[in-house]
Amino acid sequence: MVVAFRWFVPLLASVAVVTPCWSQETPRPLREFARRQRLLVGTAVGYSELVDDPRFAQTAARECNLVTTENELKWGIVHPAPDTFDFTRADAIVDFARANRMKVRGHTLVWHQQNPAWLTNGTFTRDELIALLRTHIHTVAGRYRRRIKHWDVVNEAFDDASGTLRDTLWLRGIGPEYIELAFQFAHEAAPRAKLFYNDFLIELIGPKFDAVYALVADLKARGVPIHGVGFQAHAFLSTSCTTCFDQMATRFKQIADLGLEVAITELDVPIVQPTTPAALADQAVLYDTALAACLSVRRCRTFVMWGLTDRYSWIPSFFPTMDDALILDRDYAPKPAYFALRDRLAGPRR
Ligand code: G3I
Repeated sequence: MVVAFRWFVPLLASVAVVTPCWSQETPRPLREFARRQRLLVGTAVGYSELVDDPRFAQTAARECNLVTTENELKWGIVHPAPDTFDFTRADAIVDFARANRMKVRGHTLVWHQQNPAWLTNGTFTRDELIALLRTHIHTVAGRYRRRIKHWDVVNEAFDDASGTLRDTLWLRGIGPEYIELAFQFAHEAAPRAKLFYNDFLIELIGPKFDAVYALVADLKARGVPIHGVGFQAHAFLSTSCTTCFDQMATRFKQIADLGLEVAITELDVPIVQPTTPAALADQAVLYDTALAACLSVRRCRTFVMWGLTDRYSWIPSFFPTMDDALILDRDYAPKPAYFALRDRLAGPRR
């Protein structure tokens, strides 16, 4: 692949203002094209790369108008002991976003993973667990009520492929009502925030999508404050990935027809190693298909990738035979997927 340009590295690694310092030949960034489509284009951001790698901060600020907190607002980091909240890392990401005119997507208020040991090993009555959930959500969403306007409130409540609610500490301790309680608590804490249910593999036809559809339709019909559904879109989790996004636009429309927003929240497209030019071309098609699906639905205004550069991705440590899932390579050079997104965004306005 021809590397069409270089991005210059700022000398200062700062989570505050990132000084634009790229060369004249550098093309317009994705966020500029996204603005004309009235779209938020974002990346997950981890604290470490943000503070340790100036190129990462520079590139995220240049290309994106939204960041999602990758891990830093999960219970395990932000709520390490029953009476202790630690916002150091999350604040750094939120401050970075504000300094660079980016929105923040809060991720996530209720999940079954990355919870602190005091919570997972504790013994609580139902009322105690509800009180813990309320305090957590009021404290976290409340702190950022002016700065975080989009939340992945409940994450992955359904089993991996079925339509069954996942067996989690929340389901066991509270019952299925934990979902609506989480949305109510989030709305109390941040009344102007848009609140999303977020999950993976729901771009496919199948029992999982049906179950999520039924859940959110019921919540909406009963007046629970839910505003949208986040489609994570980790492409490879599907077994038939050349076609895994073919139904995405249809799924989006079904949710939008309920009066809810849709968002792509964690897109990545890993490649079974070794990476070849053909695999990069296929990857570009999948990124483009996802973006086209979002642009085809008026209620889709958010397109978030689970990272920007192959230098930082959750994939190889979880799936050692896969890698290179993102739109920039390890040296921050744009891959075919980057150009596919740029060309799609530069196309006709929706
Ligand atoms: O912070 C510790 C560090 O102190 C320690 O030395 C190191 C040793 O392994 O682990 C570090 O924690 C890791 C953490 O990421 C931060 O890098 C955890 O082990 C690791 O399990 C954790 O992985 C995260 C994963 O969620 C947890 O399941 C990934 O970064 C994060 O990208 C991923 O994100 C999830 C979304 O939240 C929900 N949807 C799926 C997505 C991918 O799994």
